[in-house]
Amino acid sequence: MSMETTLIIVKPDGVQRGLVGRIVTRFEEKGLVLSGMKFMQIPKELAETHYAPHKERKFYPGLVRFMTSSPVVVLALRGINAIAICRKMMGATFGSNAEPGTIRGDFGVSNSFNLIHGSDSPEAAAKELELFFK
Ligand code: RTP
Ligand code: MG
Repeated sequence: MSMETTLIIVKPDGVQRGLVGRIVTRFEEKGLVLSGMKFMQIPKELAETHYAPHKERKFYPGLVRFMTSSPVVVLALRGINAIAICRKMMGATFGSNAEPGTIRGDFGVSNSFNLIHGSDSPEAAAKELELFFK
């Protein structure tokens, strides 16, 4: 276990539904340190690069369209084991089967509009932090 920084995005649906404060509060209460935070509309090219690992998937064009459709809040969160902790707190990818107690499990049922993104590995975190916080 080591000190890590992870990249979190409160997706367009999370901002539109007024859930930014509650989502940020969960991470703060857990004890993760907010080390970067910005409100932005993601340019198409940045969304394409960020989700490039999914380029060949059928859902990729819709995912890029969704992520660029309205503003998001991007966070850098720091703490011991921060990447895995945040993934656990987010819950399973699809709101329809995410566990209660997780962000996706508590706040939504949608599979595509699932409120939040979090880096899934140290390599992804490094890449994504560089993309969003130059
Ligand atoms: P994220 O990257 O956004 O943190 O989500 P994740 O790791 O839990 O899931 P991932 O497999 O990386 O998928 C990225 C995002 O694509 C959308 N998705 N739609 N319709 C579908 O089958 C489908 N599969 C994935 C979701 O918005 C997911 O968060
Ligand atoms: Mg992912």
